[in-house]
Amino acid sequence: MSLYNFIDLLQVAKQREFKALGSFNLHCLEMLPAFFKAAEKTNSPLMIQISTGTAKYLGYRLLVDAICSLSASKNVPTCLHLDHCSDLAAIQTAIDAGFSSVMYDGSHLPIDENIANTRRVIDMARPRNVSVEAELGAIGGSEDGKVVALEEIAFTPVEDARRFVNETGVDMLAISIGTVHGLYTGKAHIQHQRLAEITQATGTPLVLHGGTGVSDEDMRLAVRNGIEKVNVGTEMNVQWVARCKQTFEKGKVNDSVRNFLVPANDAVTDVLVEKIQLFR
Ligand code: 13P
Repeated sequence: MSLYNFIDLLQVAKQREFKALGSFNLHCLEMLPAFFKAAEKTNSPLMIQISTGTAKYLGYRLLVDAICSLSASKNVPTCLHLDHCSDLAAIQTAIDAGFSSVMYDGSHLPIDENIANTRRVIDMARPRNVSVEAELGAIGGSEDGKVVALEEIAFTPVEDARRFVNETGVDMLAISIGTVHGLYTGKAHIQHQRLAEITQATGTPLVLHGGTGVSDEDMRLAVRNGIEKVNVGTEMNVQWVARCKQTFEKGKVNDSVRNFLVPANDAVTDVLVEKIQLFR
């Protein structure tokens, strides 16, 4: 089975009565079976996203080969997406390796430059049937080593979103509406009204970053107001590391390391299943 781009995978999700796709960050190769187990349990298509740091660590081709193989053997329609990338050469590497979706992140640039670069990425991606996500506005928190401090957060203006989508024709747009990357120190204050207005102005699938720690109620409301891709990353990492700490602490050095990892992977499956159920 070949990989699906985001638009095609969203169609599959809708046929299966999901309103949005969760897009889950894979932090290491060992976690991969847990992702497919969650998709099988929920009869959901699967969107796996990879930070540029993880892609460099594991290798783009290895990720494509492993994920294509599991997608075919488990019969799970799957999209492999490069998360937050500002480096056009790395995006080209991902496309050449066989990623089916990429994100160009020019959110730190003036809007004209962000638009121009996003258009370049779209020109690179279209001939290969690869979907493109872009970002407008500055989402707070920490993601793959990039930190946006509280005072640097910039919510996405509705009119800028309209212009951005019109001038780029991007497949999906990540917007800043109050979520942050990483762990929250308090409750997330999501700007649902701004979201509804951006949905109205763009008519394009919108992406909610920083899904970790967002309440079920906010998540459902965001999906109702136009979010069609929800990114979740930190939550799987936290669960995996917490379980590993326990099992490695209790285990003996000559126990199979596999036995230490199974409970961690089970916890990751539980996170994905819980999130996926919210999108029905
Ligand atoms: P969290 O790590 O906060 O869930 O955010 C993930 C994300 O938005 C990746 O792009």
